[in-house]
Amino acid sequence: MSYLTDERVAILGAAGAIGSNLAQSVLAMGVSSRVVMFDPFESGLHGAAEEMNHCGFPGAEIAWTTDLGEALESASYAITSGGAPRKEGMTREDLRRDNCAIAKELGETIRKRAPHLKFLIVIFNPADITGLTALVHSGLDPKRVSTLAALDSTRLQTALAQRFGVRQDLVTGCRTYGGHGEKMAVFKDGIRIDGKPLTSYLSEGWLSQEDWEEIQAHVRGGGARVIQLRGRSSFQSPSHLSVLMLRSVLGGGEFPWPSGAYIGAEGDASEWGGVMMAADTSLGADGVTARLPDGSEEDMAALKESHAHLAALRDQTIADGLLPPLNEWKRINPHL
Ligand code: 2OP
Repeated sequence: MSYLTDERVAILGAAGAIGSNLAQSVLAMGVSSRVVMFDPFESGLHGAAEEMNHCGFPGAEIAWTTDLGEALESASYAITSGGAPRKEGMTREDLRRDNCAIAKELGETIRKRAPHLKFLIVIFNPADITGLTALVHSGLDPKRVSTLAALDSTRLQTALAQRFGVRQDLVTGCRTYGGHGEKMAVFKDGIRIDGKPLTSYLSEGWLSQEDWEEIQAHVRGGGARVIQLRGRSSFQSPSHLSVLMLRSVLGGGEFPWPSGAYIGAEGDASEWGGVMMAADTSLGADGVTARLPDGSEEDMAALKESHAHLAALRDQTIADGLLPPLNEWKRINPHL
């Protein structure tokens, strides 16, 4: 079995469903031969690590620890699902305060013990704000931190494929931007179904405006729907997509979906600045490179609204004392 790297990947929250799937996918997809699993829930973590060993991956080295600093210190890459998951009836935003406290501790631990970290992927919700909180406190270059955002775009692709009865990969150009939450911006421009633009289906009456709005609502409620169906928050798809992101950072192929990226408050980006959000991104050895999405007036208005929502969540997190005021970010993290 060959792996893209033998540098260690830390999986944080590894006793949980997303975390244990992450650890398994890193090895099964040949991304790294070495994982270190962290979780404060010792027996669950021990059990997950045992199961990983029972898979018998050739050449694999699987370590586990309940010490966050120890896990990070020895790792070059980290993926974290180490926050509380969403339960039925909750929005992702309901988790903000508690999960941002976890993200702050994560960032501070990275600053002290793992400033060498090459890439961090944050999954736990609301991922844009927990990712931003971890980034500010970590001192890492924003190119080294991303959040999982692709799930909304793959859900849009799924919903359109089901609506039109075509194979999923024949639906192309699905992109959602801004927040990974109910206020995400679902872009219409650029989508093609079996080669034909979605806008043509709309103008020719094959798809009504109401149907399109219903599809968008379905995508926005995609996470809640999985909770309703399964009685628990999604875990297979977030794990798979996050490991694909890491694989891309390691040169293992293009990641075709939007990812979360920090948008700086300088230059042209100033009106969008000071948040992490899903943008047009590429992943590679240099980490994450982001460009502001481009779309029709309608798409960009939706993005503006999503951005305003993220900025409000950020400001609440500042008011809670879990993020410093914007004008102090640079002092804590000179890369910002
Ligand atoms: C979801 O949308 C867990 O954020 C994830 O299902």
